[in-house]
Amino acid sequence: MKVSVVSRSGRELIKGGLELSDSATVADLQEEIHRRTKKFHPSRQRLTLPLQPGSKEKPIILNYKKSLKDYTEGNTSNFTVVFKDLGTQVSYRTLFFWEYLGPLILYPIFYFFPVYRYFGYQGERIIHPVQTYALYYWCFHYFKRIMETFFVHRFSHATSPLSNVFRNCAYYWSFGSYIAYYVNHPLYTPPVSDLQMKIGFAFGLLCQVANFYCHILLRNLRSPAGNGGYQIPRGFLFNIVTCANYTTEIYQWLGFNIATQTVAGYVFLVVATFIMTNWALAKHRRLKKLFDGKEGRPRYPRRWVILPPFL
Ligand SMILES: NC(=O)c1ccc[n+]([C@@H]2O[C@H](COP(=O)([O-])OP(=O)(O)OC[C@H]3O[C@@H](n4cnc5c(N)ncnc54)[C@H](OP(=O)(O)O)[C@@H]3O)[C@@H](O)[C@H]2O)c1
Repeated sequence: MKVSVVSRSGRELIKGGLELSDSATVADLQEEIHRRTKKFHPSRQRLTLPLQPGSKEKPIILNYKKSLKDYTEGNTSNFTVVFKDLGTQVSYRTLFFWEYLGPLILYPIFYFFPVYRYFGYQGERIIHPVQTYALYYWCFHYFKRIMETFFVHRFSHATSPLSNVFRNCAYYWSFGSYIAYYVNHPLYTPPVSDLQMKIGFAFGLLCQVANFYCHILLRNLRSPAGNGGYQIPRGFLFNIVTCANYTTEIYQWLGFNIATQTVAGYVFLVVATFIMTNWALAKHRRLKKLFDGKEGRPRYPRRWVILPPFL
């Protein structure tokens, strides 16, 4: 089979094309491109079918597990694929590890070290119990996320662009420092009632445990190798809401904010809710499309998306 590999502008990537066996898979083609051009490791290659000129449709992405014949429609004499370099890639575990490590390290710095001297506060700092509990709560949360990244999640996407590490770290590290700065500040005023603090942390902890259980349920939808694609999540809160893991994540931050009561914490809650809501809408749409009840496929049950009873 003759395969022409062209860039999105139509320029030939490998002069004269590639000659592959008729039984070759997309992964074989990627390996061959890599053999010819060392820079393009398979993880950074995105191969698509060419679009008609002027077409506004999304191109079909070639699945590395499939045979090339699944895409050629009988045309094995000159099959063309469009190549896009996705740039340097990192594993999802690396991405998540670095984004969560920042808040886990930065937050205690504000609690333990005299950083506020550099911001012009010279006096003695009195640490309120709520600030100590907040430190434990915060560290437990990010430690849990790192553990889940390595021992619970079964990711389907092998890699993510390196640039996402910088973008995500900027988000988590700066919000982590922003909240830590205000919660540990020498002029911080704890909530008037102790009961408010207890309710906030107790509710938040309950939601963290529920969030962990949601992640276990998601994990069980796939084989240990990460195979199985997307399934209908079932059980516990997933019987009511599509993205129960996001719902519990949002509520656990609400618990933290009820207990610690800072504007910075609530700003983070609003931004995180906005981001997770957009992702939840996309996930809900994807599941409804995958499970449309046609040709023997199950129908996706009626469920809230993320925040019942509103959405
Ligand atoms: N505070 C914040 O701003 C914020 C933002 C986002 C997330 N988080 C927290 O971080 C956690 C992980 O985030 P995430 O966005 O990676 O969560 P996610 O996409 O919902 O998924 C967690 C894992 O479950 C898999 N999964 C999800 N739905 C599935 C389905 N229907 N069938 C099979 N597997 C499925 C995912 O696979 P894929 O690899 O295919 O995606 C992923 O490996 C969240 O649950 C939340 O607690 C916090």
